[in-house]
Amino acid sequence: MKHYRKHDYDLAQIRRLLEPGPVVLVSSAHGGRTNIMTMGWHMMIGFTPALVGCYIDPANHSYDMVVASGECVINIPTADLLEQVIGIGNCSGSDTDKFARFGLTARPGVEVAAPLVAECYASFECRLADATPNPNAPLFVWQVVRAHVAAVPKLPETLHYRGDGQFMISGREIDTRSRYPGQTR
Ligand SMILES: Cc1cc2nc3c(=O)[nH]c(=O)nc-3n(C[C@H](O)[C@H](O)[C@H](O)COP(=O)(O)O)c2cc1C
Repeated sequence: MKHYRKHDYDLAQIRRLLEPGPVVLVSSAHGGRTNIMTMGWHMMIGFTPALVGCYIDPANHSYDMVVASGECVINIPTADLLEQVIGIGNCSGSDTDKFARFGLTARPGVEVAAPLVAECYASFECRLADATPNPNAPLFVWQVVRAHVAAVPKLPETLHYRGDGQFMISGREIDTRSRYPGQTR
């Protein structure tokens, strides 16, 4: 097996290698208004209940919306929504109706007031599971209370953020189930 020659790496850049899951669009509703933000910093932290940890910067308009409502929807876009993903992540819902500006469709949820994004192949309705996050360490713990997922495509091409304007698209599938039966993760 290959040994790598490694060099010192900027600690501020390690996030680019430890990239978690697909980039998502977080939608919210409060005070009669809706909003969407792009989010790359999230991780699963529980099976049952299904818990997701998310970093939402207090400078974002979405921070105020989700703190006030205690709800959001985590939507997973496919790679064809790249331009929307970048645009939504570079403007503020404080002065922009992002559904209108980016041509997206808001659909009502079942459990929460935050809207589902119809153009995303999966949408998870979430309620704040933990106390309101500390603005200095804005980690939100969400409980997914309802999940809506399209049956097709089975293996959607998702976008994964590598930082600094670079994205990856999910690729080749490797199925190890027959070689390692009984895997739980
Ligand atoms: C690819 C990408 C990933 C992002 N990831 C996050 C993130 O994990 N957390 C965060 O707070 N902001 C993240 N942002 C920035 C927000 O999406 C951005 O500040 C957005 O304008 C916030 O919108 P709002 O003010 O309407 O809430 C990301 C932006 C991009 C383009």
